[in-house]
Amino acid sequence: MARRINGVTAAASASLLLAFLMPAAADGDGGGTTRYNAMFNFGDSLSDTGNLCVNKSAAAELLLTFANPPYGMTYFGRPTCRCSDGRLVVDFLAQSLGLPFLPPSKLPGADFRKGANMAIIGGTALDFEFLKSIGLGYPIWNNGAINVQLRWFRDLLPRVCGGPQTCRPYLARSLFLLGSIGGNDYNAMLFFGFNVSRAKSYAPNVVDNIAAAVERLIELGAADIVVPGTLPIGCIAVYLAILPSGDKSDYDERGCLKPLNGLAMYHNSLLQDRLNGVRARHGSAVRIMYADYYAHAVDMLRDPARFGFTTVITACCGAGGGPYNYEFDARCGMKGATACADPWRHESWDGVHPTEAVNKLVADGWLRGPYCHPPILQ
Ligand SMILES: *[C@@H]1O[C@H](CO)[C@@H](O)[C@H](O)[C@H]1NC(C)=O
Ligand SMILES: *[C@@H]1O[C@H](CO)[C@@H](O)[C@H](O)[C@H]1NC(C)=O
Repeated sequence: MARRINGVTAAASASLLLAFLMPAAADGDGGGTTRYNAMFNFGDSLSDTGNLCVNKSAAAELLLTFANPPYGMTYFGRPTCRCSDGRLVVDFLAQSLGLPFLPPSKLPGADFRKGANMAIIGGTALDFEFLKSIGLGYPIWNNGAINVQLRWFRDLLPRVCGGPQTCRPYLARSLFLLGSIGGNDYNAMLFFGFNVSRAKSYAPNVVDNIAAAVERLIELGAADIVVPGTLPIGCIAVYLAILPSGDKSDYDERGCLKPLNGLAMYHNSLLQDRLNGVRARHGSAVRIMYADYYAHAVDMLRDPARFGFTTVITACCGAGGGPYNYEFDARCGMKGATACADPWRHESWDGVHPTEAVNKLVADGWLRGPYCHPPILQ
């Protein structure tokens, strides 16, 4: 009798142990899948999950508003250095794919086998040397250009998957997200005195660097790569507040700055051209997915109620007041700034970055369509 009980107990613990050792078939959250081994992300503040804040003294020197409440108020319940009230697109993608939130690549001792996030606040597509050469060498644009982020990734690889022999198949079954990146390149230009046509003239350099990064990832074995375009920056509070136009005809019927949206559309069309070139070079062995941030944001701006929103451009969090609730010296995370009570009803969190509610919709649109070509889960 006792032996049988022991036998049952042993079998039960064996299956418990097995359950512990086996990867979960699906994540509890939203019917995840185990389609991918891991996810690796590159980008800027739209997808940094904490890289810039890993070095606490550097973060303090930079007086990062993102490291202060009420950032993180909706999810996490504390600031995590994410530029939102909660999760980012990359977080929702991780949850839906049954993967953990991606640890920042700079986090000492983190386990990167299921993914790593190289994105960093201030990240650019252009190399810092290039920005310096055109007179834009301000230190804020030196946090981690895409080429620097690729180096961080290569340095991590031995801890992710060993050597090139084992990494190639591992990375072929991983999801890569390259961006959105490029927004800061235009910020560097527009906020420091370039006009829109001059900024436009550098768009080919920006998209060339993004396309070159896609090629580098493919060389390492990547086969599934999502490349988002840029947002309609002419509809974002920070640009509207800092770069107002005296010419009424510069504004569209929703109050967005048409020349800035023109720049974003130009970038996106060049980027899609470059991605078509990459697709043509690699054929069906590689799946390049263009994520249409722009079209989704425009749909949300045109018909906010359809998506559950009451405000579109006005920041939920800030102290600026006025039509945008954005002022550079009274930003979200600074003394005196407050957040709206219902961030899920607003599209803009801090006048620069979207709310968690927007990020969730964007992630769904990339996973299942219609805002990703082809959708990630197709
Ligand atoms: C952290 O940042 C400080 C201040 O910028 C710098 O002096 C230090 O070298 C950094 N530490 C590491 C480990 O990078
Ligand atoms: C934009 O700036 C460039 C270079 O500074 C200048 O040559 C050009 O005339 C400007 N264009 C407009 C439309 O102001």
